Amino acid sequence: MIDGFGRNIDYLRVSITDRCNFRCLYCMPEEGVPKKDHNDILSFEQMESIIEVLAELGIKKIRVTGGEPLVRKGCVDFIDKISKIKGIEQVCLTTNGFYIDSHKEELKNTRLDLLNISLDSLNEDKFKTITRCGDIKEVLSGIETAREIGVKNIKINAVLMKGINDDEIREFAEFGKEKNVKIRFIEIMPFSICNSYEKYGISADEIIKRYDLIRTPDKDYSNNAETYKFKDGLEVGFIRPISKKFCAACNRVRLTADGKLLLCLHGTAYIDLKDKLGNKEAIKNAILEGIMNKPKEHGIDLGVIQNREMNSIGG
Ligand code: 5AD
Ligand code: SF4
Repeated sequence: MIDGFGRNIDYLRVSITDRCNFRCLYCMPEEGVPKKDHNDILSFEQMESIIEVLAELGIKKIRVTGGEPLVRKGCVDFIDKISKIKGIEQVCLTTNGFYIDSHKEELKNTRLDLLNISLDSLNEDKFKTITRCGDIKEVLSGIETAREIGVKNIKINAVLMKGINDDEIREFAEFGKEKNVKIRFIEIMPFSICNSYEKYGISADEIIKRYDLIRTPDKDYSNNAETYKFKDGLEVGFIRPISKKFCAACNRVRLTADGKLLLCLHGTAYIDLKDKLGNKEAIKNAILEGIMNKPKEHGIDLGVIQNREMNSIGG
C-alpha cells in the first residue's frame, strides 16, 4: 500500500487496550483513565477481520501494543492467530514486562519474532518514581523468562528523561551486553495529556556528546534507531523522533482498540473502521482512500501536539 508521498506502508501497530497496570508519568494520569465502554472496544475477532484486509493490502509486520497488551485476556492467543494470517511475516509485542512470567507457558508456545520491553530505569526507586507503582523485580524477572523461553530478538526501550535516567546510559549498555538484549533510548515526545516534555525533554545529541559515543552501522537495529558505541565497544541505540525526525521513511499505521486507523502518531487524521465491520470491501476502500491523507511529517517542531492519550495509541 503506497501513501500520497510514495511511502510503502507495510507495518501495523495494534493497540488492543488502553488499560495498564503502571502509570508512567509521561503516559498516564496517576488516577488512571476512565474505563471505556465494552461496546466501544473491538473484539479480537473484529480486529482479526480488519487485519486480514490490511494484510491483503500489503501489511507484513504487526506489533501488538497497549496500554499494556497483556492485561487484556486472550492477548497471546490473538498474537498466535494474527501470526497465521496470510501475508503476515513478523509479529511483535511491546510490553512493560510485568506479566511475562504469568504468561510464560502461553508465550513459549507462540511465535514471537520480536519482543520490546519498556524499562526506563535500572534503579528500583527511580523505576517506582517513573511508573508510580511498578516493581522492577517483576520486569527484570520477565526479561529473564523471555530469554529462557527462547525469544531471540529482545529489545529494551527506555524513554530518555533529563535528571531522571540520563545518568544511566552506561549501566544500560552494560545490562544490554550482560543479558544479550538491545538497548534503545527514545527521546521523550510531547503529548497534550501527561506532557512531560518540557520538564524531562533532552536531545540524544546531548547524551552522545557527553559520553563521546561513536556512530556505528545500524545492522541489527530497526531502521529508525541509530546505533552508537562507547569507546570499549558497548552499544546503545537512540530513537530520535524530535532531534532527527524519521517521517520520510515512515512505513506504519496504527489501529486503536476502538477501531480507528490512525495515520500518524502525532496527527489527528484517522480512518474509522468500526462502522464498516462486517463489510470487507468497505473496509478496503476506506483504507485505500484514507491512506492518501497520511501526513508527510509530524509538526511537533511547529507546536502540533497529539491530543489522544499515548496509552490509547501504544507508541
Ligand atoms: N515519549 C516517548 N516514548 C513514549 N512512550 C510512551 N509515552 C512516550 C512519550 N511521551 C513509549 C513507552 C513504550 C512505548 C509503548 O512508547 O515507553 O516504550
Ligand atoms: Fe503503561 Fe506503557 Fe503507559 Fe507506562 S508507558 S503507563 S507501562 S502503557
